[in-house]
Amino acid sequence: MTADNTATPEPSAPDGGTRRDFLYLTAGAVAALGTVSAVWPLIDSMNPAADVTALSSIDVDLEPVAVGQRITLKWRGRPVFIAHRTEAEIARARADDANPGLIDPEPDAARVQRPEWLVIVGVCTHLGCIPLGQRPVDPRSPFGGWFCPCHGSMYDTSGRVRRGPAPRNLEVPRYRFLDGTRIQIG
Ligand code: FES
Repeated sequence: MTADNTATPEPSAPDGGTRRDFLYLTAGAVAALGTVSAVWPLIDSMNPAADVTALSSIDVDLEPVAVGQRITLKWRGRPVFIAHRTEAEIARARADDANPGLIDPEPDAARVQRPEWLVIVGVCTHLGCIPLGQRPVDPRSPFGGWFCPCHGSMYDTSGRVRRGPAPRNLEVPRYRFLDGTRIQIG
């Protein structure tokens, strides 16, 4: 657990090269008078930590996350995906706003506070699996977002469900920008 309140994530390497290409960031609990967050690069378990409580919130420094990279952190025992979207990913999401094939219609603008940052809970809305798509080598479905291997649900670059049995888009958690590069989730 870090001494200050801000978690500095290590982003994944977009080319899956020599750097670790997939990091889980785990954040800790809130103290009564403020947020205390903790980050460990690459945690091998997604089980809730004992200090992750229902009241927790986490601060995340997004500055190290390059365009096109995606990071995973843990919040309230659940994975949260943060994608630093490219211009192409943003354009693709917006282009599908009026697509009649959307299972859970929602404009991209309603799902992001800043177009380049998508923050979503990484839990499939079908039966709760964790979709693939965070690692550069993962399948991201034909829609460029995430793919749930459990029963084949597919999500687009806005986290909206596009195929499969999942009934709803990936959840957008409550969060806010604290400044230009830091957000607080929860
Ligand atoms: S849990 Fe994701 S498709 Fe079934």
